[in-house]
Amino acid sequence: MVYAGILAGGQGKRMGRTELPKQFLNIGGKPIIIHTLEQFIICKKIDKIIIATPENWKSYMIDILNKYYQNCELNVISGGNTRNETIMKICEFIKENSKEKENIIVTHDAVRPFITQRIIEDNVEAMQDKNIDAVDTVIPATDTIVESTNNNIITNIPIRDYMYQGQTPQTFRVNELVDTYNSLEEREKEILTDAAKIYALKKKNVKLVKGEIYNMKITQEYDLKLANAIVKGVEINND
Ligand code: CTP
Repeated sequence: MVYAGILAGGQGKRMGRTELPKQFLNIGGKPIIIHTLEQFIICKKIDKIIIATPENWKSYMIDILNKYYQNCELNVISGGNTRNETIMKICEFIKENSKEKENIIVTHDAVRPFITQRIIEDNVEAMQDKNIDAVDTVIPATDTIVESTNNNIITNIPIRDYMYQGQTPQTFRVNELVDTYNSLEEREKEILTDAAKIYALKKKNVKLVKGEIYNMKITQEYDLKLANAIVKGVEINND
C-alpha cells in the first residue's frame, strides 16, 4: 500500500503568529493544509492518508476535515516533538494498522500546498525500482551555494551544477525507514533533521525527483503573501 504521511505537527514559530499554527492559516480563503490534502486525495497512486498534527490541535484538524470532506477516509494522529519523530509516529501507525508486509510512505510537508500530481506520481513510481531505497524531491540550485562552517568566513563554494535544494515529498519503505532511524544514536537523531540525509549518510540510494520552484514551503510571513498571490494567479511585483 502507498500511504501519504502529511506532516502537520509543527507550531510554525517562524511565522510569528501565535494564535494558529501556519498549516491552518488561510490562503485563497482556504486553510493551507486543505490545499495540500486535496492533491493527495485526488491522486490515484495514494491508497491512504495519515495526517499528524500537534496533540492539542487534533480536534481542530478533525473539525476542518469534517467541514471540507465528509466522505474521505483520513486518519489524524498526534505528531512528535521533531519532524523526524512525527514521521516515526506515522510509520508506527501504519505498522500497527496495516496487514501488508511492506508499505511505502510518501512524506510531505503540510505547508507545501502547491504540490503537483506529477511530483507525487514520480515519487511513487521511482520506488518501484528495488535498487532505490528512497526518493527526495529537489530543484537545481539557482543561486551559488556558499558554505561557512563558522558563519563568518567562507569555507567552501561547491560546484553549483551539483547542488540542489531539497523539497518534499520524500518517499521511503516504512519498515526500512523505521529500522534505519532506530539504528541511530540519540545524538545523531538530533543532528539528522532530514530523513533523506539519514539515508544518504548510511550510503543508501536516494533518487532525485524533479520538484517545482512553486512547490515552496510556507515558513515566514512573506511566504504567506507569495502563496496568496500564487493562489490568486496574481503577478508579483516589487512595488
Ligand atoms: N513538522 C511536523 N512535526 C514537527 C515539526 C514540524 O510535522 N514536530 C512539520 C510542519 O508542520 C511542517 C513541516 O514539518 O509542515 C516543515 O517544517 P517547518 O517548516 O520547520 O515547520 P514548523 O516546525 O511548524 O516551523 P517553525 O520551525 O517555524 O516552528
